[in-house]
Amino acid sequence: MGCLLPKGMLLGAATAATQIEGGKVNSNWNEWSNQGRILDGSTCERACDHWNRWKEDLDLLASMKAETYRFSIEWARIEPEEGKFDASAIAHYREEISYMKKLGIVPLMTLHHFSNPLWFERKGAFAKTENVRFFLDFVKEAVKDFGDLVSDYVTINEPNVYALNGYAGQGWPPDEKSLTQAARVLNVMAGCHIRAYERIHRMREAMGYKDTRVGFAMHMRAFTAKNQENPVDRTSAALEKSLFQNKLLRAFGNGDFRVPYRNLGGFEKKNYCDFIGINYYTRSVVSKVGDNLTREGAPKSDFGWEIYAAGLTECVREAQAIIPGIPVWITENGICDSEDAFRCLFLYEQFREIADAHLSIERYYYWSFLDNFEWMDGESRRFGLVRVDYPTEKRTVNKSGRFFTEIVDHHGISDNMYDRYVRGEEYHL
Ligand code: BGC
Repeated sequence: MGCLLPKGMLLGAATAATQIEGGKVNSNWNEWSNQGRILDGSTCERACDHWNRWKEDLDLLASMKAETYRFSIEWARIEPEEGKFDASAIAHYREEISYMKKLGIVPLMTLHHFSNPLWFERKGAFAKTENVRFFLDFVKEAVKDFGDLVSDYVTINEPNVYALNGYAGQGWPPDEKSLTQAARVLNVMAGCHIRAYERIHRMREAMGYKDTRVGFAMHMRAFTAKNQENPVDRTSAALEKSLFQNKLLRAFGNGDFRVPYRNLGGFEKKNYCDFIGINYYTRSVVSKVGDNLTREGAPKSDFGWEIYAAGLTECVREAQAIIPGIPVWITENGICDSEDAFRCLFLYEQFREIADAHLSIERYYYWSFLDNFEWMDGESRRFGLVRVDYPTEKRTVNKSGRFFTEIVDHHGISDNMYDRYVRGEEYHL
C-alpha cells in the first residue's frame, strides 16, 4: 500500500497572485471580473485577501511542512502604468519572500500567470511582437528587485491555456475567436520565454549567482483516441497532442519551431530551460480535433475532468523524450473537490505513480495551497489543501492538507497513513 518518493524530491504547493491576493488592481482579470463575466458572479477583488494575510498564510504553509512554494507576482501591481514601477508593491513582495525563506521554504517565482496590466492588455498584449520588450522590461525589473532572494523562476504559466482560452473562443479576456491569432500569441510568448530565460541567467550571473534555474510551466494532458480501432480518432488525438503541447515544448524548450508555430525571433535551436515545468490535471478523449471528451464511466472531479493518475507519468515521459536530459518539476497537479471527499485518494494515486515510475522528477507542487479564485469559475471551484470561507476569510486545513503534511514528513505514504486517510474514499462516477 505505502510508497516512498524519489530521494531529494522537494514537495510543496502552488498559487497565483490574481487567484489569491484580492484587492483593486489595474489588471485585465480585475476588469473582466468586475464586468460580471465570471460564472458565479464573483470577482478577483475578494479572493483570499492574501495581500493582507500573507504572513498568516506563510505560517500556515510552514506548519504544513511545505519545503517549497510556487507563487506569482502580479505584474499590474509592480508596473501599474507603463514604465512606472511601484516601490511599495516591490517592498511588499520582498518582505513576503524574505519571510518565506526565513521559514525555510524554497521560493519558485512565476513571472506571468495569466493576468496582464491593463495598459499592456490595451496595447494588444502578447498578440504583437513589438510588445515583447514590455514583458522583458518587467522581467528585468523583477530580477533587479528579487534576484538576490530568488534563484528559481517560471517565466510563463501555461501559454497554451492562456492563448486558447483568450484568443480561440473560450471566454477569457480579451475573448477573441481566432485560432490563427492564438498561434500568433504562442509564437510571441515562446520568444518572450526564450529571451527572459537568457536575461534572467545573464542578470543573476552578473550579480554573482551560479544557481539560477529557469523554466516555463506547460499545461499537459494525456490524450487518447475515443476508439483505438478508428484511424480518424487516432490521428485526431495525435494531432491535438502535437499542437496543444508537444510542438510547444519543442518551441519553448528547444527553440525548435515546427508548423504551424513560427520562429519570429530567429532563435537558435538549443536548450532554453533548466527544468521542464508540467501542470497535469486530466486526460482528453478525442474523436475529432477539439472535442475533448471524457471517457464514459471514468471517475471525475467536481469540474467534470477525468481523474487519470497514470497520465502524469505519461506526460513526464513524453516531455523528457522531447527535451532530453532536463529534470521535470511538476509545477501543478491537483483536483477540484469541493467537499475534500476524495482528494486524499487522488494524492495517493499520484504519488504512487511517481514513486513507481523512477523518473527524474525533482519537485512536486500541489495545486493549490488554498482554495482560490478559479478564473471563469470564480470562487465556486475548490482545489485547496486548505479550505477558505470567503465571507470571513477563515482558513481551515482540510483532511487532505493534514495528509499532505504527513506525506512531506514521511517523504512518502506509509500503510498506516493509507489506512487513516485514503481507505474509504471513493471517486464520483
Ligand atoms: C492554472 C491555474 C488553475 C488550475 C485549475 C491551471 O490551468 O495554472 O491557474 O487554477 O489550472 O484550473
